[in-house]
Amino acid sequence: TRPLKVALLGCGVVGSEVARIMTTHADDLAARIGAPVELAGVAVRRPDRVREGIDPALVTTDATALVKRGDLDIVVEVIGGIEPARTLITTAFEHGASVVSANKALLAQDGAALHAAAEEHGKDLYYEAAVAGAIPLIRPLRESLAGDKVNRVLGIVNGTTNFILDKMDTTGAGYQEALDEATALGYAEADPTADVEGFDAAAKAAILAGIAFHTRVRLDDVHREGMTEVTAADFASAKEMGCTIKLLAICERAGDGASVTARVHPAMIPLGHPLASVRGAYNAVFVESDASGQLMFYGPGAGGAPTASAVLGDLVAVGRNRVGGTTGPGESAYAALPVSSMGEV
Ligand code: HSE
Repeated sequence: TRPLKVALLGCGVVGSEVARIMTTHADDLAARIGAPVELAGVAVRRPDRVREGIDPALVTTDATALVKRGDLDIVVEVIGGIEPARTLITTAFEHGASVVSANKALLAQDGAALHAAAEEHGKDLYYEAAVAGAIPLIRPLRESLAGDKVNRVLGIVNGTTNFILDKMDTTGAGYQEALDEATALGYAEADPTADVEGFDAAAKAAILAGIAFHTRVRLDDVHREGMTEVTAADFASAKEMGCTIKLLAICERAGDGASVTARVHPAMIPLGHPLASVRGAYNAVFVESDASGQLMFYGPGAGGAPTASAVLGDLVAVGRNRVGGTTGPGESAYAALPVSSMGEV
């Protein structure tokens, strides 16, 4: 069988793990996809920083030329941010490739347009890694629960802030010290403002709400409050009330299901609640639906290897689709439910 050619855009914490696992698990990936996968190019900004183990002949600083090659099957975008990621993804579709992305900011802002571009070119757009690292959420919501009616998605979707809040709560560490540690561990975004001001969680809430409720929710629709103002004194008063503090994302149907609300803010959680015991950079998300009742998804929500796990799962799914000459679920089933940004808190 012809090998599937994969290009990697970005080779930082996540990208280098993706490249590593593509090599070490090559036989398993080939068996699951039905064709071998070949790393055909790696686009980076700083070639001197590319980790050992990647063939220097594959490394380029010209991402545009790479996605225009015309012989690629799958482009994996792990650059993050809006541009140049958006243009590179649409260029990849135009030149015949499907796309796997971990880019929550972009999907939360332009998901509808990117899906439309994928569909126009008969290509796939998968992004399990954009929300909650290794935890499967996009595919369960889009596929496993597609016959049910989801009413609420609620939980911890940012590892960095959970790490910081957990550290402040359990060790009395200061905010900056905890943030520095989260950054050193590879959890935080390039600019940690996105984490601590709640933008990262809000982007994930927008993506989850859109998929869970079959509508379109954008970052701007999400009411957002970060966690920078949570203090040691807040933790002390929470403790007196038998609670701790977590940054939550809450997406739910409102107005008898006729509209949708999505919000992110710090919340008091009773110590007996499962969310109170989510430690470190772990994430936990509850999904409530008519027939299933309550489901809980729990696991590592940030970090190179866990996020790479989700990217590789998508790579296998998209690879199988390519081999079978088909595409996965697109965006066609969307009804435009009105989004109101403020629910009852
Ligand atoms: N900065 C993000 C987090 C990475 O801390 O959760 C995973 O999206």
